[in-house]
Amino acid sequence: MTIELLTQKKGPKISKYLYGQFSEHLGHGIYGGIYVGENSDIPNVNGLRSDVIEALKAIHVPVVRWPGGLFADTYHWEDGIGPKDGRKKIVNTNWGGVTENNYFGTHEYFELLRQLGCDAYINANIGSGTVQEMAEWVEYMTMPGESPMAALRRKNGQEEPWCVKFFGIGNESWGGGGNMRPEYYADVYRQYQTFLPQYDKENPIYKVACGPSDDDYDWTEKVMKIAGKYLDSISLHFYTLPTGVWQDKGDATNFPESEWTSTMNRAKYMDELVTKHSTIMDHYDPEHKIDLIIDEWGTWYNVEKGTNRGFLIQQNTIRDAMVAAITLNIFHKHADRVYMANIAQMVNVLQAMIVTKDDRLIKTPTYYVFDMYQKHMEAQWVEGVGDVPENITYTASQKNGELTLSLANYDLHETKKIHFTASSSYRNIISAKGLFADKMDACNTFDHPDEVSEQPFDGVELNNNQMIVTLPAKSVVSITLK
Ligand code: AHR
Repeated sequence: MTIELLTQKKGPKISKYLYGQFSEHLGHGIYGGIYVGENSDIPNVNGLRSDVIEALKAIHVPVVRWPGGLFADTYHWEDGIGPKDGRKKIVNTNWGGVTENNYFGTHEYFELLRQLGCDAYINANIGSGTVQEMAEWVEYMTMPGESPMAALRRKNGQEEPWCVKFFGIGNESWGGGGNMRPEYYADVYRQYQTFLPQYDKENPIYKVACGPSDDDYDWTEKVMKIAGKYLDSISLHFYTLPTGVWQDKGDATNFPESEWTSTMNRAKYMDELVTKHSTIMDHYDPEHKIDLIIDEWGTWYNVEKGTNRGFLIQQNTIRDAMVAAITLNIFHKHADRVYMANIAQMVNVLQAMIVTKDDRLIKTPTYYVFDMYQKHMEAQWVEGVGDVPENITYTASQKNGELTLSLANYDLHETKKIHFTASSSYRNIISAKGLFADKMDACNTFDHPDEVSEQPFDGVELNNNQMIVTLPAKSVVSITLK
């Protein structure tokens, strides 16, 4: 069995925004995990912890979605600006019922983006906010000239407007964002987007409409039909639960083999979801002018025992690395329609990149997948033809004369040999690395932070255009050839 990589055929560009992150006011997703305040003993720059910034910079995070999630529809931006001691507190009713001091607000978010060197994706409050509140927030952030909100921004220390690249109008409006019907939401979307100020006509703010959950094809159909001509994109939310049951999702560690398999199957289901939602979109948008984005995805398990149920703390194992690889490979394949994706969530929440405890940090197996996959960002997707062995997923792309091939073997027991040929000549292996594990719930802990971390990979044989990759069970690898 040989897979032919059609390197002479021009595939769609893999947007770097597929590697986007989501960071919500949830548990220690922001407070403690990213923001510790200027007076903290934890080393920080302007209140943002330096160790976390350094780790995230290394994976070139392209965009951070904020402030929610469900939190977004309870958030009133005016409470998070101005002198910190004057800021109104907020009770985070969705996540743990904790009282937050609002010290991380609009200015701190843009400081985070500045330090990371990435783009903004703000989610507006249309659930409990107003059109005026949304319009004034955008005026505050982006108005270059004179206006009441621009004056307020300057008074608070920010002279120049910021760039808001992506702007979400509604989050899960079918559920916690308002329990709306699709027809009603589509009209609300039309109304809100009308009053979204666009001061930079050359670079208008990219609008994201609330899309469906999972296989709610009716939502996509109706929103496309009613609001289609006002859309830049529509967002899908899909989480990977081992059991598929919200009341008892399955545990992050010490799970049975059957839950490894069901997790892989659930992750692979993303392909069908993207295909079917995209087919509905094709009917209204055959030229693919409207993007499908997946601004919440990842694993969701039962919370770690003894932790606040609202903080969504879970361990991240080699199984999560498999889910990340399977999902990113699917996004690459659909790169002609899928423009952005935001894994939930960046730090300390759900399928996080980074977990912190006081002044310490660990990088998760998922972090390492994002790290190894970096060469795929903004590269041209390469189609592969040929039967794929069972329990193998792969993706390939080309950029700057290099071919990067990433694969995962999610078989629990068997090593697999996969044969590839490429239609162009690649003679040298530039790099080959991988994640390997003995146990199906192998993970990094504060006592053993490097249990699952990038290692050199020597399982590649390259002979002219023929390549044989020998993949151990439970491994993710990435190989670059020139
Ligand atoms: O990511 C956690 C939550 O999942 C988000 O707040 C919400 O949008 C979704 O239900």
